[in-house]
Amino acid sequence: MTTYITTPIYYVNALPHLGHAYTTIVTDTYSRFRKLCGDDVRFQTGTDEHGEKISQAAEAEGVSPRKYVDRISRAFKDAWPPLAIEPDHFIRTTNPEHIQTVQDILQQVFDQDDIYFSEYSGLYCQGCERFLTEKELVDGNCPDHLKPPKEIAEQNYFFRMSKYQDWLIDHIKKHPEFITPERYRNEVLSFLSEPLEDLCISRPTSRLTWGIPLPFDENFVTYVWFDALINYLTGIGYPDGPDFERYWSVAEHVIAKDILKPHAIFWPTMLQAMGVPPYKRLHVHGYWNVDETKMSKSIGNVIRPGELVDQYGADTVRYFVLREMSFGLDASFSSQAIIDRQNSDLANDLGNLFSRALTMIGKYAGNVVPEPFKGLLNDMDRELINALEVMIAQYRLNMNTFNFNRALQEVWKVIGLLNRYIVTNEPWELAKNADKEKRLMTVLYILAESLRIFSLVLRPVMPRAAEKMTAALGLDITEQVTLDTHGKWGIMRPGTKISQGRQLFPRIDKKKRQAGKNQQAKPEEKKKEETTQENGLIGFDTFQELDLRVAEIVAAEKIKKSDRLLKLTVRVPDERTIVAGIASFYDPDELIGRQVLIVANLKPAKLMGVTSHGMVLAAKEKDDEGNERLVLSTVSDRVAPGSKVG
Ligand code: MSP
Repeated sequence: MTTYITTPIYYVNALPHLGHAYTTIVTDTYSRFRKLCGDDVRFQTGTDEHGEKISQAAEAEGVSPRKYVDRISRAFKDAWPPLAIEPDHFIRTTNPEHIQTVQDILQQVFDQDDIYFSEYSGLYCQGCERFLTEKELVDGNCPDHLKPPKEIAEQNYFFRMSKYQDWLIDHIKKHPEFITPERYRNEVLSFLSEPLEDLCISRPTSRLTWGIPLPFDENFVTYVWFDALINYLTGIGYPDGPDFERYWSVAEHVIAKDILKPHAIFWPTMLQAMGVPPYKRLHVHGYWNVDETKMSKSIGNVIRPGELVDQYGADTVRYFVLREMSFGLDASFSSQAIIDRQNSDLANDLGNLFSRALTMIGKYAGNVVPEPFKGLLNDMDRELINALEVMIAQYRLNMNTFNFNRALQEVWKVIGLLNRYIVTNEPWELAKNADKEKRLMTVLYILAESLRIFSLVLRPVMPRAAEKMTAALGLDITEQVTLDTHGKWGIMRPGTKISQGRQLFPRIDKKKRQAGKNQQAKPEEKKKEETTQENGLIGFDTFQELDLRVAEIVAAEKIKKSDRLLKLTVRVPDERTIVAGIASFYDPDELIGRQVLIVANLKPAKLMGVTSHGMVLAAKEKDDEGNERLVLSTVSDRVAPGSKVG
């Protein structure tokens, strides 16, 4: 199969920000996904370099438009590799080939009388670079740029867009996948239920010179949209290049809702006038806000992709935006949200799973993937294998329909299952018993094979982490691997040598949280119920002062120079360190993933140089010979970490 997928070409009047990065990450992810499906893929992005906004930005900087566009276009091109975005082609509308093709198309449409000259007056929004209708205004302002449009009257050239209205309505109705998600398809159909006006496609050179001259009238330049949209054709060598033949029939565009109308109405009607078949699918996403506020220069909350990569790394940024935004709806960015995703989904769920499983294969199987004993598969194994297969199918479906967050939820569901699989199967216990050798090897094979599948499905989303996982699992990254050939159970060859990798995702230390933060401040004057000294009973108020919580252990290690103490990292759901005197009863390995009860508002205390923020509860028993046994407390079913106990 063949895939051609594009981003909008971005205006060069401002530097790239989170919104541009999101669209481009989505497009790169889809491109990598289709490559993983074995497709011949072409992924195109680029810059839109003509128009009023740009000539004004250049003027404000005191440089020529040419110099200005070169600089900003370069900034866009350079923004993508650090995010592991790898377009196959970067197009600029100032390319001579693009300019020539735009002029050829204009001439053709003019010659067939689909472009005519007329007088027009209307409400022009410079931000949108188009005339708005009265109906689109909100309180007299452009809804996107929050400014009133300018009343402009001038003679211009017009494209007979109205002529293609019925054809477009029919096409959208016959092809439900043409515009998705459905809300945007409905929005377009509702707009088309009113008569469509013709599209003004020129600007007089008296007002603007930074544009492509109309081939049939030197006093005019092309209106940006009639120039910009054509990039999707010129980038693949329209009209007679071999790539045009190869890719156009499968073209898919990714945009945000701000440019729905040009892509869903101007573009298909232009193509129809040119005699070129319409694109296949238009994928429309929502807007990124920052801390629930619109991202804007004037508010000073613009998020730059470069800064995000420096702080969190490409994989985390990609995972975060894909997991956090429901495609089609708006989403809000906050540092807290990205740190939480990194710590919980990436460092704890995936990273810990990966390093624990590798450590166990190292420790119990000498770093070699063991032979599974198929006859020994039990119900839990089969359930896990089945869950992995269901996950792959769901993942495919959701990636194909741009439901990236759902695809990732499906993957993480099984990551959670595998974490529990380890806790239930207790490989460290199996290792103590020679009779259990076959079972242990089967469990270890299942771990290795599951990790291989995760490393495969995560490739499009987190290419770098997936590559590290693949290498640590002893697999050949350069091998031609597809979802069809490798997206199934049982591919991992016993005997494969694994290597102990470094941590996949570091945990981000949030500002040191004080223990007792959860404790509710109590008014000074509040009278405490007195402890009843005589009979050892306490009042309810005293009991209520204890903040008991369910905590999930996400990391455990021995404290040097102590036989008794373990340093635990627990989630309640924020992370904190607790020192517990349980080293003689539990191996650090077997604790990860367990839920325990803790006192969360104990004053911090330093034990062997480590500050403990709370206490883990455990039962102690003594046998007849006075040997002590300690058993950690827990809840009878898994609950959300941090749940209150009372
Ligand atoms: N040059 C035109 C597009 C021409 S395509 C033939 C243009 N450029 S733009 O620089 O303004 O980019 C708009 C696109 O940037 C949006 O459609 C979206 O892809 C992305 N985003 C810009 N701000 C955004 C958010 N706040 N949130 C999400 N994406 C947004 O329009």
